[in-house]
Amino acid sequence: MIQDAPEAQQEGRLIVVSNRLPVALDADAAGHPRLVPGSGGLVTALSPVLRDRGGIWVGWLGTSSEPEGLSELVAKGNIESGYTLHTVGLTQDDIDGFYRGFSNEILWFLFHDFILLCNFDPSYWPSYECVNRKFAETVARLASPEDYIWIHDYHLLLVGRELRSLGMNQRLGFFLHIPFPPVDGFLKVPWRRELLEGLLQYDLLGFQTVRDTTNFLRCVRLLVPQTRIQGAGSIFTLRTADRELRVGTFPISVDFRGFAKRAASGTTDVFADQISRSLNHCQLILGIDRLDHTKGIPQRIMAFGEALTDHPELRRRITLFQVVVPSRMEISRYQSLKEEIERVVGQVNGRFTQPGWTPVHYMFRPLAAPELVAYYRMADIALVTPFKDGMNLIAKEYCACRVHSDGVLILSEFAGAAAQLHRDALIVNPFDIKGIAKAIHVAFTMDPSEKRQRMRRLRRAIQRNDVHRWLDNFLRAAFARTMSDFRRTGDFSPSYYPSGSQSDQETGLS
Ligand code: G6P
Repeated sequence: MIQDAPEAQQEGRLIVVSNRLPVALDADAAGHPRLVPGSGGLVTALSPVLRDRGGIWVGWLGTSSEPEGLSELVAKGNIESGYTLHTVGLTQDDIDGFYRGFSNEILWFLFHDFILLCNFDPSYWPSYECVNRKFAETVARLASPEDYIWIHDYHLLLVGRELRSLGMNQRLGFFLHIPFPPVDGFLKVPWRRELLEGLLQYDLLGFQTVRDTTNFLRCVRLLVPQTRIQGAGSIFTLRTADRELRVGTFPISVDFRGFAKRAASGTTDVFADQISRSLNHCQLILGIDRLDHTKGIPQRIMAFGEALTDHPELRRRITLFQVVVPSRMEISRYQSLKEEIERVVGQVNGRFTQPGWTPVHYMFRPLAAPELVAYYRMADIALVTPFKDGMNLIAKEYCACRVHSDGVLILSEFAGAAAQLHRDALIVNPFDIKGIAKAIHVAFTMDPSEKRQRMRRLRRAIQRNDVHRWLDNFLRAAFARTMSDFRRTGDFSPSYYPSGSQSDQETGLS
C-alpha cells in the first residue's frame, strides 16, 4: 500500500515537465508549420489522462526553429490537448549536445545496458547541465508555490537540482520511464556522482520496476554512502545529509477502457477488413516498435525466419507484420539500424516468399490510432521482444484490444511489462533466436481454450492496473493528491475538440 505524501496542499495546478511536449512542430505539404502529435511511451501514457485538468505541460517542440505564427499554433494546441503548453526553445547546439548527445548517445544506451554504443564525449555534459537549467528556469517562471511539479524521464535528471538552486522548495516528483541500470553499468558514467546527487533533490523518485528501484538504491549505497535507506516493498525513505525523499516502484500502464472501446468501434472495422484481406487466411504475427536498438527488431525477424526453417508447416500459414515507427533519424546509428532491419526483411522474404504469400510485411511509418488498434485486433500473436525496455506499452495495448480474449502475447523477459505479465505471456529471452522461434510455434499451435484463459488473465491484470491507477498512485505518493483533485476546467469540454483530433492522431510508441 502506497502511503500519501506527508504534507497535503489544497490548491494548485499540475505542472508536467518533459523533454518533449505531446505535440511536435512539423510542416505540411505546402511547407506551412503545423503541430503533430508527439511519439513515445511518455506522451502516449500522459496526454489522455491530463486532458481538461487545467494543467500545464512544459517541454520542447522538437526543432531549433521558431516559425512565425508559433504562438497562435501553440494556443490552438492548448485547446486541442486540453492543457496549457509552454515551450522551452532549444538551439541547434542544445539539440546536438543535450538531446542527441548526452541524452541519446550516453544515457539512453547506458540505461538500456548498451554500454559499448555510448559516446562519452565530454562536450555533452555542459550542454546537458545548461538545458536542464533552461527547463528549470521556465518552470520557475511559471510555477506558483502551491503548484505540483512533476518532471519526467532521463533527459531531465538535473531539473530538480536546478530548481532547488533557484530557491524553489515545493515538492518535486520525478518519474523515470526507462530502466535504471545496474551498479556496474552506472559506474561507467564519468558524471555518475553529479547525476545521482541531482536525483536526490527530488521528493519522490518513481521507477518502473522493482529491479530499477533496487538498482538505483544500490548505486546510492555505493556512491552516496552516508544516505540512510529505510523501507521495503514498493516505497523506500532515504535520508541524505540535508534532506529526506522517497523512492518507489510505479509500473506505468495504458488506458485499458479507451483501447478496448476503440477496438470494438466501427472505425476500426474498416482497417481490420483491409488487413484481413491482405492476410489471405494466414495467422498474423505483429511487431510494432519505434526504430530503436533496444527493441531487438532484426533479431526478431531472424527468429521468425528461424521458425519458418524449423517448422516448414508454418509456411503460407503465418505472416509477420513488422511496423517500425521512424525515430531519432538524425543520429547515424539509427539510420544504420534501419538499413539492418531492411536487410534482414529482404533476407527472410528472399528465402521464403512464394506466389501468393510474402512472409514479412514491413512498414516504416507511424500508424494512425484506428489503424494501430485494427492491427492489435487482427493479430493472432504479438511479438514484443526488446533487449531491454522500461515497460513496453505495446504489450499492454495489445491485450487491452483483444476484446474477445484471444491472441497470444510473446514477451521479452527484459521488458518492464514482464514483471506483471510473466505468468500468462510466453516469456522469451530476446537474445535467444531459437527460443523465440520455438515460442512462435508454441503460440501458433496453442489450444484456443488455453489462449482464452491466458488472455483473460492478462486483460484482468492490465485493467486492474491501468494508467489511471498509475497516475493516482504516483500523485498520491508525491503530492497527496489524485487526479480527481485537479478539477475539470470549464474551458475545455469534450465537444470543443475538433472532431477526430484525438482518435485519428498518429500513435506514439514506447
Ligand atoms: C522513449 C522515451 C521518451 C521519448 C521517446 C521518443 O519513449 O522514454 O522520453 O520521448 O522515447 O524518443 P524521442 O527521442 O523522439 O523523444
